[in-house]
Amino acid sequence: MSEIKLPVGAFPPDFAWGAATAAYQIEGGWNMDGKGPSIWDTFCHAKGKVYEDQTGDVACNSYQLWDEDLKCIQQLGLTHYRLSFSWSRLLPDGTTNCVNPKGVMYYNKVINDLIANAVTPMVTLYHFDLPQALENHGGWKSPDIADFFDSYARFCFETFGDRVKLWITVNEPYVCAKFGYEDGIFAPGLKEPGTSVYLVGHNMLRAHARAWHSYDANFRHLQGGKVSIALNSDWAVPLDPASPKDVEATARYMDFILGWFACPVFCTGDYPETMKSRIEARNLELGFSKAPRLPKFLEDEPNPLGTADFFALNYYTSRKVKDTSSHRSELSFSGDQAAEGVTDQSWPVCGVSWLAVVPEGLRKLLKYIKETYNNPAIYITENGFSQTGPVQLEDIDRCQFYQDTLQEIAKALREDGVDVRGYFAWSLLDNFEWTEGFSVRFGLFHVDCYSAELKRSIYRSVGAEL
Ligand code: GAL
Repeated sequence: MSEIKLPVGAFPPDFAWGAATAAYQIEGGWNMDGKGPSIWDTFCHAKGKVYEDQTGDVACNSYQLWDEDLKCIQQLGLTHYRLSFSWSRLLPDGTTNCVNPKGVMYYNKVINDLIANAVTPMVTLYHFDLPQALENHGGWKSPDIADFFDSYARFCFETFGDRVKLWITVNEPYVCAKFGYEDGIFAPGLKEPGTSVYLVGHNMLRAHARAWHSYDANFRHLQGGKVSIALNSDWAVPLDPASPKDVEATARYMDFILGWFACPVFCTGDYPETMKSRIEARNLELGFSKAPRLPKFLEDEPNPLGTADFFALNYYTSRKVKDTSSHRSELSFSGDQAAEGVTDQSWPVCGVSWLAVVPEGLRKLLKYIKETYNNPAIYITENGFSQTGPVQLEDIDRCQFYQDTLQEIAKALREDGVDVRGYFAWSLLDNFEWTEGFSVRFGLFHVDCYSAELKRSIYRSVGAEL
């Protein structure tokens, strides 16, 4: 990253420098060569869900233009590349009953090319794109999903694990569950407030734990890799630091985003006490007496505790939090959380409205993770800066953002003693940004997704001579 000046000597020589992408956002080839449909294909093909009804049918066409992506990776001199597998490209109906050889060939080529170029692959097994066939079977709400996911994960470990040593099972279970089942703004687009969100989160943890245990028992001794789950989190501070209610709400805000998944995996094998007690209290308040909304981990299944070989963190932004426990609200996740995050007027917003730029929040979050989750080795698996409106290859503000962010990581490493192992910029390419379509651009390379050539052009922030 030549325009960005790294603080001299701040990063260990084996620090991982990477960029990240996800299958649905870049691959295209949605029905090519035997790929089965995923819930994102279905979601986008139904009109009215995505900005201007755009889809990932073609996206950056990385399925056919992988060689171009590889050139981008080489040009940046990255040591690592984080990609995700499309489950239904490998297993069109989601099960190992039927393997798609062309899908296997594609990912073999990607992995082999990376390794031949001294780039270490990090592979995410699930980045939002469930095979539609499994959705038809009940998807993430069905308890069976843990079996299906485990078989898929084993298949991947068996097929690619001789070369892939860094695995992420599920990307951002919070986002999948909350946006997909509570808010209905991501596939599969369900709005079932206050219920499915916890069931889906639970099944994602069960699926993750199963896959980690499979790796641990059957592959680790042969392949020597590492497996984790990528958790997204804001950094949160009280809106009014002098208000005990806001202080408490801030802790709750963090627990309902990060603790929900990190506490079972890194701390106790169970959900945070704040979540359990709030949800219980709300059940009483609202007279909700159906099946427990927050499921329990069963004795006869692998427990999530200890099922991560490193901490994978996706950080984008920070919030100031105010208590909303006295507000009347229907059954919902936000009613349970009773904490509202707002942005500070002084924080610049880059491109998309939710993304207030707060690099120092990352340093604080890293320290919080060190202290709360037993000083794990941490990879920052996503972090980035977006652009909207007219394309500006001369992206001075993004350059400044990376500069500031890397300074903060350097401080976390050197001054706070946080064990940060690597940093993956989101994203290698401008790509299909979910409900925002191609209107929000996070790439280190610009891709004109409206043109047939889909040419990759480097942005100034990472060293272009324009
Ligand atoms: C994350 C997600 C990515 C990307 C990014 C930017 O939540 O994992 O796929 O879209 O946000 O919004």
